[in-house]
Amino acid sequence: MKAILLAGGKGTRLRPLTIHTPKPIVPIFDRPFLQYQIDLLREVPEIDEVILSLNYQPRRIEEIFGEGAGLGVRLRYVVEPSPLGTGGAIRFAAQGITDTLVVFNGDVMTAVDVKAVVAMHRARNAAATIVLTPVDNPSAYGLVETAPDGRVRRFIEKPGAGEITCNTINAGIYVLEPSTFDRIPKDVSYSIERAYFPSLIEQDETFLAYVDEGYWIDIGTPEKYHQVHRDMFDGRFARGPFAGHGRAPLVSPEARIDDGATLEGPCFIDVGAHIRPGATIGPYSVIGRGVVVEEDAAIHGSVIWPNSRIGRDATVTDALVGRHAHIGRNAVVSPGAVLGDKTVLTDYTKA
Ligand code: GDD
Ligand code: MG
Repeated sequence: MKAILLAGGKGTRLRPLTIHTPKPIVPIFDRPFLQYQIDLLREVPEIDEVILSLNYQPRRIEEIFGEGAGLGVRLRYVVEPSPLGTGGAIRFAAQGITDTLVVFNGDVMTAVDVKAVVAMHRARNAAATIVLTPVDNPSAYGLVETAPDGRVRRFIEKPGAGEITCNTINAGIYVLEPSTFDRIPKDVSYSIERAYFPSLIEQDETFLAYVDEGYWIDIGTPEKYHQVHRDMFDGRFARGPFAGHGRAPLVSPEARIDDGATLEGPCFIDVGAHIRPGATIGPYSVIGRGVVVEEDAAIHGSVIWPNSRIGRDATVTDALVGRHAHIGRNAVVSPGAVLGDKTVLTDYTKA
């Protein structure tokens, strides 16, 4: 069985972080986002190949994962000639495949039991099965109403205020039968959410919902991207390098922590980082590979991407900082700031 990861979006809502780093590979702690999805799919022994459906900066993604040797699964890349939308991308990537497919949106963090979803899909001979998750406000998602027998009754992408009739949304995880793809036009943009799913309902095909109450987040905005780190520190999503670690600082043996530096857990310090005397790394901070934090600087609740430098006496609080940024001495980076790669803040700047 094959899985398709839809990883072609531009990640506009995550700008400036996604200007040089496509959304599917933004780092979550020390590894690219898609690695979490690939690890989850590897738990399904039947899945022998993961197809990455790409169009935005595909080379960057291929360079990182290669053929998947280090990931324990075979990877294949399919690059659309132009963005085909979610439905068009699935049809394009599924050319030549006739067997049941698993599809993931390339920005959802979840631990859903994929095997159980596939088993339900097969047991009820479904044309399509969609995973649902409950959320407080469905307006930014695809709202999905179900019938008592577990079939999908209504699918409304990005519902307006008056259309919110339940709290279950499309979690961006599907099991699909390629035999239903003939309705997807070739070579034009086509949305699985706005066209394919509604057509299954109209034609009364077996379109099932699988509700998962476990952890779920779409990392597609800076707030959510930041939140997933806090959740992993708190053990709400027990995967990745911090899983099961408790609340103490987690420091790579290849990081350098000078005497007189203070680390307050939970925090994470990656390979090659250097924390100088008098500097403080406070709770909920992620210090990426090769980051240098100079004397008396203080970082709290922030995610700092690799190879940035935080100057002497600077403070960075509840912020996101891209790669190769340089925060000058005594600069102050305030809560909610999102600084792109190579940002330079001159000494004493307040941002
Ligand atoms: N290959 C390819 N081509 N991929 C695409 C394209 C395209 O033209 N357009 C979007 N994608 C990928 C994105 O990279 C992302 O991984 C996924 O498809 C979904 O696109 P988003 O832009 O993130 O959509 P969304 O978050 O607004 O809404 C979708 O996800 C929600 C759950 O997070 C919908 O599927 C909603 O129904 C759902 O609730
Ligand atoms: Mg999304």
